[in-house]
Amino acid sequence: MQSTSEIKSLRSQIKAWRQQGLSIAFVPTMGNLHLGHFSLVEKAKTLADKVVVSIFVNPMQFGENEDLDNYPRTLDEDKKGLAELGTDIVFTPSVASIYPNGLSAQSYVDVPGISLGYCGGKRPGHFKGVATVVTKLFNMVQPDFACFGEKDYQQLQVIKTMVRDLSMPIEVVGVATQREFSGLAMSSRNGYLSETEKETAKALYQSLLEISTQLKAGNHNFAQLELDAKVSLEQKGLKADYFAIANKDTLNPATLGDDHLVILAAAFLGSVRLIDNLQVSI
Ligand code: PAF
Repeated sequence: MQSTSEIKSLRSQIKAWRQQGLSIAFVPTMGNLHLGHFSLVEKAKTLADKVVVSIFVNPMQFGENEDLDNYPRTLDEDKKGLAELGTDIVFTPSVASIYPNGLSAQSYVDVPGISLGYCGGKRPGHFKGVATVVTKLFNMVQPDFACFGEKDYQQLQVIKTMVRDLSMPIEVVGVATQREFSGLAMSSRNGYLSETEKETAKALYQSLLEISTQLKAGNHNFAQLELDAKVSLEQKGLKADYFAIANKDTLNPATLGDDHLVILAAAFLGSVRLIDNLQVSI
């Protein structure tokens, strides 16, 4: 596996592959890799001749009160895992190379509408940071395919919208969420949880399953279902940040007549904010 922090050497390898007619799949990450990320790499390998993974903790997508400095950085282990999987290049740019003029002078990409509610509403500026860095990374890697986890469902929809709106010649591929045996969605944030807290955290996925069962059974009182789920989460020791039933594609609140839905949830367990989602067809 090649490893580089330099945009120039990444570009020259990409150019060489292109000259040989090889296709490229890309997996952007912020490191601290777990089985969820590895499943993205496995998927990428099935899509193209070469796989590029980036590891970049993107300051632009962190809010002022969010802990950028303490974000877990485990570069050596990450590289080991990626090499074992057969990644072709791991790209680890510095903040200075991605944002040479600082964040405030940076041109940005803003995806309206779909970025606004849910995590976008709770974390203002977050998706602007994500869309901007992903655009920059896309321009560096120039992939044919890019893989993103369905765990960050709104992020996946924001990226799909951006690629469509800006005519980027890239196929965005969503990959199913990897879960612990308990159902808890794999996430770098699970590393902040004790074993007892992980037991409590599994209530988030359970609440998604419960609401999905209700929806399938014909209960379409969306507002009441959302409220009940919030109360049930509180009783189990989690504080809901949002809990919403939405149209799977537009992310608009579900209305009667919508058949393909997604249940989106974010909840705090102490100071750790967990998110999860579940698609349901009714
Ligand atoms: O999902 C993530 O890890 C990040 O939001 C991403 C897509 C790598 C952009 O920084």
